[in-house]
Amino acid sequence: MNTDLVVVGSGLFGLTVAERAARELGLKVTMIDRRPHLGGNAYSENEERTGIEVHRYGAHLFHTSNERVWEYVNRFTQFTNYVHRVYTRHQGEVYPMPINLGTINQFFRSAYSPGEARELIREQAGELAGTDPQNLNDKGIQLIGRPLYEAFIKHYTGKQWQTDPKDLPASIISRLPVRYTYDNRYFNDTHEGLPVDGYTAWLERMADHPNIDVRLDTDFFDDSQEFSKASVVGQVPVVYTGPVDRYFDYAQGDLSWRTIDLEEEVLDIEDFQGTSVMNYPDEDVPFTRIHEFRHFHPERDYTKDATVIMREFSRFAEKGDEPYYPVNTSLDREKLLAYRDLAKGESSVLFGGRLGTYKYLDMHMAIGSALSMVDNKIAPHFTSGAPLT
Ligand code: FDA
Repeated sequence: MNTDLVVVGSGLFGLTVAERAARELGLKVTMIDRRPHLGGNAYSENEERTGIEVHRYGAHLFHTSNERVWEYVNRFTQFTNYVHRVYTRHQGEVYPMPINLGTINQFFRSAYSPGEARELIREQAGELAGTDPQNLNDKGIQLIGRPLYEAFIKHYTGKQWQTDPKDLPASIISRLPVRYTYDNRYFNDTHEGLPVDGYTAWLERMADHPNIDVRLDTDFFDDSQEFSKASVVGQVPVVYTGPVDRYFDYAQGDLSWRTIDLEEEVLDIEDFQGTSVMNYPDEDVPFTRIHEFRHFHPERDYTKDATVIMREFSRFAEKGDEPYYPVNTSLDREKLLAYRDLAKGESSVLFGGRLGTYKYLDMHMAIGSALSMVDNKIAPHFTSGAPLT
């Protein structure tokens, strides 16, 4: 087999491993993906009619405080100075998110100072003071008080999980951020922005190296393929970034995921909502939020005749759906431990990325963890013969 390393999955984890292995370690890498494009969930493309860049698997905002990751990604793309802000539409009014002094003063029709607002929320949260909340509903009330929780969190979370928060474990949230300033920047990271010429240009540059052979439309579990599980495992080292339960043929049961249905619409108006994301926290609206993609790139000269919006509906994933967010019940955690034990037995396979580790990872976390895998496992294996796993 004319390759040193097989990477399964061309998302940001697989791309980072492939790029480093090829450029830094001089290895020949074959990267396969079952989708017809590379880039995993960060992939984007220009909507046909309008030319507006649409993030195909849900909106992706890049942000990081990890200097190594920031330096690394800047080798492949420049970033715009986009700053992410989120608004929420509750009972006919629009409020800034995350909950901040602006949200509080608008909601209570007041002009509280930071100290007064803090005192008010403490009082309201006191309703369940001293209790040990057993479900997400009680935890939410204990964290920020009933009025704000019921307006902005309760039904939004209920829609995300398709479950009444009274029936969800309290452990889903450990804190609900409330800012006692008017700062409504969504992310607190040192660096933030969007790739100047789009995600796909960035991701393709990472794979653009003579030692990287990309094979799309190639499923690792399709035995008729040249680079399938049956033909490569044991023959050549593998970095696997697909779902860990699938790798072991669901031997320990299915891990549960939430997925998102994305409903795209092109509207014949210049601007639908005046901002890139609007949450819908009310019970009577079936979707959780709407993205309007033109607002991610105000610097671009997009058409004024049309705009692209995307509504998000959240639900539990079934087999065949895109797995997006780990549900992570206690049963899932038990299964995951069993899969980790099985993974230890695969001496020539490394499991990584959000599907391979059953962890929600932001892009910078996927890249950071791939860089660590190269440093700690792949480089020592190829340079001094250390065991791979
Ligand atoms: P990723 O899922 O991207 O790639 C895995 C690849 O493996 C896929 O291309 C898949 O086709 C392939 N694969 C699976 N099974 C295979 C098989 N059997 N054979 C061959 N190939 C196979 N992050 C962030 O920083 N900011 C944000 O705003 C967002 N927003 C966001 C929204 C939504 C809806 C989601 C679900 C996720 C985000 N993220 C995010 C997270 C971001 O998508 C995530 O960090 C990266 O996708 C992680 O990259 P991976 O390579 O781990 O997985």
